[in-house]
Amino acid sequence: MSTVSADLVIVANRLPVDRVEQADGTPGWRTSPGGLVTAIEPVMRANDGTWIGWPGGTDADLEPFEADGMKLVPMSMTPEEIEGHYEGFSNATLWPLYHDLVAKPEFHREWWDSYVAVNRRFAEKAAELASEGATVWVHDYQMQLVPQMLRELRPDLRIGFYLHIPFPPAELFQQLPWRRQLLEGLLGADMVGFQLPGGAQNFVRLVRQRVGHKTHRDLVYLPDGRTVRAAAFPISIDAAGFEEMARSEPVAARAAEIREALGNPRKVFLGIDRLDYTKGIYARLRAFAELIEDGHFDVEDAVFVQVAVPSREQVEQYRILRDEIDRLVGRINGDLGRIGRPAISYLHSSYPREEMAALYRSADVMVVTPYRDGMNLVAKEYVACRFEDTGALVLSEFAGAADELRQAWLVNPYDINGMKSALLEAYRADDRETRRRMKAMRKTVTQNDVAAWADAFMADLAEVPGSHGKAVRP
Ligand code: F6P
Repeated sequence: MSTVSADLVIVANRLPVDRVEQADGTPGWRTSPGGLVTAIEPVMRANDGTWIGWPGGTDADLEPFEADGMKLVPMSMTPEEIEGHYEGFSNATLWPLYHDLVAKPEFHREWWDSYVAVNRRFAEKAAELASEGATVWVHDYQMQLVPQMLRELRPDLRIGFYLHIPFPPAELFQQLPWRRQLLEGLLGADMVGFQLPGGAQNFVRLVRQRVGHKTHRDLVYLPDGRTVRAAAFPISIDAAGFEEMARSEPVAARAAEIREALGNPRKVFLGIDRLDYTKGIYARLRAFAELIEDGHFDVEDAVFVQVAVPSREQVEQYRILRDEIDRLVGRINGDLGRIGRPAISYLHSSYPREEMAALYRSADVMVVTPYRDGMNLVAKEYVACRFEDTGALVLSEFAGAADELRQAWLVNPYDINGMKSALLEAYRADDRETRRRMKAMRKTVTQNDVAAWADAFMADLAEVPGSHGKAVRP
């Protein structure tokens, strides 16, 4: 395939597929986890873009290739870079810092050096592949230095950046020893997109305070005459695609099979998350178990299916979390389960989309209770799959999705008693009530799908003025 001169280049830490070893020992590809991939894939297809990213693992010298009609350019990482850039600075420094310090971030200078080196390599690759005047769309917290590095190499490009996770308040962000470099890295873009208006405001305020640039509302004025816009673009899903899948005969049959296998309880509760400490899995399972202990229902009435998708397994905090959840599930099932009737059906695995759609179809109460989450696409996927307007969503106030899905049962995930009440209300809610809420949420999700998100971002990016006419010339 030809990879020269792309008019749209996507730069993300990950490719949409991971390199894996198949059962027979030969290499193959598997869809990578997480919301980012789910969101960008349809945009890529619609715009014939080229995607630069890491395919997982340490294979060097992988050639560009096409998968599912997408042009993919694999970037290798050395074991040291995986440790320093990916597991270290991205996932043990930035991730907890940007998620309200749910875990304690670690600051290590070698990790930062590795982050800089990897960002530079990605920027150089984008500079090599982008055609004259092309648009480059850089994604997420692992790549925050790419916009500035790329602008230095290719001032002709239009550069957009989108942050998929929350952007923290100044009070937290300023702990970072490299706060100024990150802000300047982002300011290389013409437009910086966030999930929520609060993130954009945090960014503009920090740029004013820490970098000293003039700002007005959502605009930053740089001394070289450029203008950078910071705005919110709440991300979404391929709502029609999910609904179609949910309506299909095989998915309907599989959903029935799942309920049957669970022993046909009156109500099925469901949680689907990457196994991450931001997701609030522990507290949510405790809340559910306490409802059984308190006698509100028993294991014949209700079961909780928790899917935990393996994630970042080399990072210590994630290993600790896995052990904690394993122990909790074991204890709850040991204390409350009966033969063939565990209170919690726990699955540590990732599943194809069809299986997810079947799970969504089979669940009466979807429980999404992160301590902090940029958006949370699982909440939107559940709503998209409930084409009969049935089913209840219990949703954390601290997920970006709560801004749009106002009719969910909103909870504070730190308040276990509050969560218990919401779970119980959702369990007991009558048809009329759940229908009223689901109908309204479905309208929101179907009207604001991922195509609308990408169109809005691209249209606004095209409109940011290249210059505000006040260039300071040396
Ligand atoms: O959507 C947030 C995000 O962190 C993405 O940037 C990332 O690709 C995904 O979740 C999954 O995480 P990881 O790439 O570390 O497996």
